[in-house]
Amino acid sequence: MKKIVTVIGARPQFIKAAAVSKAISEHPDLSEVIIHTGQHFDDNMSAVFFDQMQIPRPDYMLDIHSLSHGAMTGRMIEKIEDILLAEQPDLLMVYGDTNSTLAGALAASKLQIPIAHVEAGLRSFNMRMPEEINRILTDRIATKLFCPTPTAKENLISEGFQDFDSQIFISGDVMYDAALMFSERSIRPEGVDIPEAFILATVHRQENTDDLERLSAIIQSLNQIASEIALVFPVHPRTLKLLSNGGLPELSDEIFTIPPVGYLEVLHLLKNCQMVVTDSGGMQKEAYFFEKPCITLREETEWTELTDAGYNKICGSNSNTILKAFNHFRSKKIRFKPGLYGDGQAARLIATKL
Ligand code: UD1
Ligand code: UDP
Repeated sequence: MKKIVTVIGARPQFIKAAAVSKAISEHPDLSEVIIHTGQHFDDNMSAVFFDQMQIPRPDYMLDIHSLSHGAMTGRMIEKIEDILLAEQPDLLMVYGDTNSTLAGALAASKLQIPIAHVEAGLRSFNMRMPEEINRILTDRIATKLFCPTPTAKENLISEGFQDFDSQIFISGDVMYDAALMFSERSIRPEGVDIPEAFILATVHRQENTDDLERLSAIIQSLNQIASEIALVFPVHPRTLKLLSNGGLPELSDEIFTIPPVGYLEVLHLLKNCQMVVTDSGGMQKEAYFFEKPCITLREETEWTELTDAGYNKICGSNSNTILKAFNHFRSKKIRFKPGLYGDGQAARLIATKL
């Protein structure tokens, strides 16, 4: 029996773990111990995913959050190291690119515990993003690299990974597995009258929220879109703090702001919206899973296969570019071809390779 310690802490990691932890639990030769760092902690950013997606309860809850990047990562490393010493796992598994990812990987590397990285090889080529640093460092010290796409593998190869002591697999994307697993159980969010026709919007990325001028420009663009079609905007706590502080343009009445919703509710919104406007990594892919065009409020994307295919347009915070993309997607029927993120069996493949 191989013992795996999994470190998760942020919303997208719970969704990824829902697929992979299920595959691990079904594998006769694997057992899993889950550490939740606490990076995300509100019920609607954490507990709701464990409840809705039947993710096994974490064995350890670290309650480390709301700190600077360095303090958060440092405290996580210290606590994770204690647990690894007690648990003596065969392997540590991490997902994506958050501070929880890097903390888990560094703690394991110091103890020479092999590391599996799910969502390896993603690159924005923007070293100002904390996520880019987290994923490059995690990839470099991981021993099993699970790439969601061939492009992700090519990124690793171009960085010389074929000469390193690590195994690279193209697994497909576990978020696609999750979308397929839960799509039929989607539920309408309560407490808001979802308009008949709407655009789904989310904003939380540090580059947009740390810069009030950028955030103001984004809000003005959302207001302009809302003059033509309503928006449903589940607001991430990071963004809520800024909206509550004042100093930003008023949101139009046609923007329905709601607290973050659970995964089953977000699936309902994805299925029923006309378009997605977001700076989220995960939502860009989910827009594609549900055949919705996507406007990305960033200067680049890791998910370049979506932009190459014409399903997603990179617009930054420039309102002319955003509105041009909005009009393009409204006037043109996009034909989506499936298959960019695997066949929905990524989690099973990962469990086998573990
Ligand atoms: C983190 C990840 C980002 C990921 C995002 C997913 C890093 C560097 N960033 O960004 O890659 O896209 O999660 O959503 O790891 N907060 C709450 N309640 C919560 C969670 C957060 O109030 O449940 C507040 C925190 O107190 C903090 C702010 O939101 O003030 C930001 O949280 P943090 O985890 O630092 O970064 P995210 O922006 O969520
Ligand atoms: N999500 C959710 N509720 C919301 C907004 C998003 O469940 O109110 C899900 C969304 O479907 C996606 C994931 O959270 O799978 C993405 O998380 P986020 O945008 O916070 O992070 P990123 O993917 O950018 O790292």
